[in-house]
Amino acid sequence: MLHLKSMSAAVLLASIGIGESEPAWSNDKLSELGKGLSKTHCARCHVVDSEDLFSGISSTPSFSLLVNGLEDWEDRFLSFHTRLPHQSVVRFKGDAVDPNESFSTVPMVLEHTDIDAIAAYAKTLKKN
Ligand code: HEC
Repeated sequence: MLHLKSMSAAVLLASIGIGESEPAWSNDKLSELGKGLSKTHCARCHVVDSEDLFSGISSTPSFSLLVNGLEDWEDRFLSFHTRLPHQSVVRFKGDAVDPNESFSTVPMVLEHTDIDAIAAYAKTLKKN
């Protein structure tokens, strides 16, 4: 299970480098979709949006802090589902549900393409 998730992250990461122009995932529609997904799934722990500073839990870095504070934020967003603590809360649609796998909380169920949308939204938080 974990192995599969890591592989899909590698595929996503490989796809960023392809093409000279703006990558396909950085368009407005995608980032709108990503904003909705982030509010639904990530705001439980993260401050996702500067309009909504009081969501999340204070021990968790805000999206803005991650995007503006980390050189490699893109890599981190595209692979967040393989990074702690997310493995225990993320599941992908169509994944076989392992009856022995115990989630400590209600898992969020994502499509693989949702990751691109969320990264596209995160990109809109980048201050220049
Ligand atoms: C159950 C709480 C929780 C949820 C839900 C959650 N996160 Fe996180 N996230 C965390 C915590 C806690 C950290 C800090 C981990 C650390 O510092 O080691 C974190 C860190 C991150 C990081 C930085 C990872 C790294 O290794 O540097 C990214 C990117 C991230 N989250 C993206 C997301 C996205 C995107 C979503 C929604 C799809 C999400 N998170 C949902 C708790 C959560």
